Amino acid sequence: MSEDDPADGWFPESVAADYDGPGGANAPEAVTPAVDVLEELADGPVLEFAVGTGRIAAPLAARGVPVSGIELSRAMAARIAGKPGGAAVDVTIGDMTTTRVAGEFSLVFLVFNTISNVTTQDGQVDVFRNAAAHLRPGGLFLVEVGLPDLRRLPPGQDTVPFAVDPGSGYVGFDQYDVVTQQFTSNHVTVSPDGTGTFRRIPFRYAWPAEMDLMARIAGMRPKHRWADWDRSPLTAGSTEHVSVWEKTP
Ligand SMILES: C[S@@+](CC[C@H](N)C(=O)[O-])C[C@H]1O[C@@H](n2cnc3c(N)ncnc32)[C@H](O)[C@@H]1O
Repeated sequence: MSEDDPADGWFPESVAADYDGPGGANAPEAVTPAVDVLEELADGPVLEFAVGTGRIAAPLAARGVPVSGIELSRAMAARIAGKPGGAAVDVTIGDMTTTRVAGEFSLVFLVFNTISNVTTQDGQVDVFRNAAAHLRPGGLFLVEVGLPDLRRLPPGQDTVPFAVDPGSGYVGFDQYDVVTQQFTSNHVTVSPDGTGTFRRIPFRYAWPAEMDLMARIAGMRPKHRWADWDRSPLTAGSTEHVSVWEKTP
């Protein structure tokens, strides 16, 4: 069994090893619409914050877009080069709140809820500032992130289940603190022999309007806000948003 390195944070070897499994976020119907939008927004080199295993970066590079990436976890980043297009992705190991890479980019993007992995408001502002610092004037910063499920919280309740599957022994739920905007995603897996695992990952949610302020602090202004990669408008029933800000020239 492989060793998990604490420096890899919440995505060490044991998580990275299963990250690229078929289906879900790795299915073509999840990946292709995102890559389509990113390719269209790109007008020169692009930079992915928290590039992970290159789920999005590698297919984007395979289309001929020059792609760089910043990633905290060596275990995740080690998977990029083996994918079609991945060898062309220029990866730097580091923290997206502070790490600078050389060059000026037309687009910086941060997808799959990962802004929420930064669990303080100051840290999230630093992400916006760092994105702006990598952009040329008029360059774009794109964030894809789920909206917190607060409308499913009746008074007195702080927990929203998102999967309860006794058949497979898996239960998943989010637990919210609406005062601090901290939340956790919780994954309980019980094996037939009664042993199990409990994984609890901390996050911070921010409303789109708070992100607009973070963008303004960083010298960017709103350009697009969609409910999904299909560019549909955000509504009261939306479960995520794809937002794009422009670095003020
Ligand atoms: C849900 S995965 C998303 C990976 C990839 N963007 C994708 O769409 O598949 C989150 C990734 O963010 C990385 N990450 C979390 N916090 C980070 C930080 N502060 N700086 C850089 N990478 C970070 C994790 O190591 C992990 O690889």
